[in-house]
Amino acid sequence: MDILLIGSGGREHALAWKIAQSPLVRRLVCTPGNPGMAAVAECVPTPADIPAYAKKEGFDLVVVGPEQPLADGLADSLEESGIPCFGPKREAARVETSKAFVKDLCEEAGIPTARARSFTEADAAKAYLSELPGPWVVKADGLAAGKGVVIAEALEDAKSAVDDMLGGEFGEAGSTIVIEEFLEGEEVSLFAITDGETVLPFGSARDHKRAFDGDEGPNTGGMGAYAPPGNLPEALERRAYDEIIRPALAALKSRGTPYKGVLYAGLMLTADGPKLIEFNCRFGDPEAQVLMRRLRSDVVPTLWGAATGRLGGVGLDWMVEACTLVVMATKGYPGSYEKGSEIRGLAEAEAQGLVIFHAGTKQDGDRLLANGGRVLNVTAMADTPQAAAEAVYEGIGAIEWPDGFYRQDIGVGV
Ligand code: AMP
Ligand code: GLY
Repeated sequence: MDILLIGSGGREHALAWKIAQSPLVRRLVCTPGNPGMAAVAECVPTPADIPAYAKKEGFDLVVVGPEQPLADGLADSLEESGIPCFGPKREAARVETSKAFVKDLCEEAGIPTARARSFTEADAAKAYLSELPGPWVVKADGLAAGKGVVIAEALEDAKSAVDDMLGGEFGEAGSTIVIEEFLEGEEVSLFAITDGETVLPFGSARDHKRAFDGDEGPNTGGMGAYAPPGNLPEALERRAYDEIIRPALAALKSRGTPYKGVLYAGLMLTADGPKLIEFNCRFGDPEAQVLMRRLRSDVVPTLWGAATGRLGGVGLDWMVEACTLVVMATKGYPGSYEKGSEIRGLAEAEAQGLVIFHAGTKQDGDRLLANGGRVLNVTAMADTPQAAAEAVYEGIGAIEWPDGFYRQDIGVGV
């Protein structure tokens, strides 16, 4: 099988790493890819017309890593060209691209989630905020690269967030905002793969989104992860699939917009049970990386099955070991940061048994340079997340990168 993989982050490196191990694969091309992916696959610049390129090259399957191409309708245009795509069509991808859409879907399907209201007008939004107890949660409706959420401890800060978002901070994505009830509890990320009919539970992981130790500091795309998550016993996981994921997929199907690909539910484990924080229309990053490392089965039959309506009968086998991942980011991230600093010592860290997935890196001759906010993902497997964390933190010292930083507490004490 010839596979085209879209994306260039740690999530896509992990997918490429896993897909490349499949005996079913003859050719794997990543676009645009990154230097890590170039070690396991062929990388090409993003073609102007992906369906035309995929058709010309004869790919049997296109796997879409990030949300933006799905929001732009890549799965729709691939389907029109007759090319199987792992990832939902535009209308189903609205589970991620519109928070108001999700709130509607939750109401229709009886899915537990935070109470919420949408606003396009600042005065009405602020009046509503004043009626709620804090902390206050203000969100841009559309895609804002993970940055469109403000959790304010002070009412004044929540009101400023309303002004900023409706004032154009996130452009069109913030022209509608959602104000919602604050949910108390621990978070967990839950995944399911579906072909629109069959639902294949794909496990869970814990992600740490805040920049600094102790879950302090600004929200980021994710600073570390581990699986299994420890806070989601099997019975609770089953309940989350039954109360959240399955009803959402059934509602999308009955609306005539069946979902295909991976559905990622960000959950809050509250005193009243799991509640939905958000859906995403793609794998989590970094969660996908710990999932790919723990998956013993070949991932290709699952991706292919979801893309072609043949997921029935596909089973999954997971390793018993846990995986912990620590993100190395450029100092300053998620604010502004410099690009271009040199990174050394990856081979030394890998020699200690670590697997390192690249995100924002760039090859310059034989030098590896930082080229983004989240730059490297350092992973280890061991009997428990804590033991895997110890292995990561022992080996990460071999990586020489003075301009980078990482959290010291991922998987520690869990
Ligand atoms: P989102 O982009 O919707 O996932 O929000 C980013 C992060 O904000 C989540 O991972 C949570 O940590 C936090 N968050 C979002 N909504 C809520 C809520 N209603 N209550 C508490 N925390 C929330
Ligand atoms: N890990 C958070 C995300 O992928 O959105």
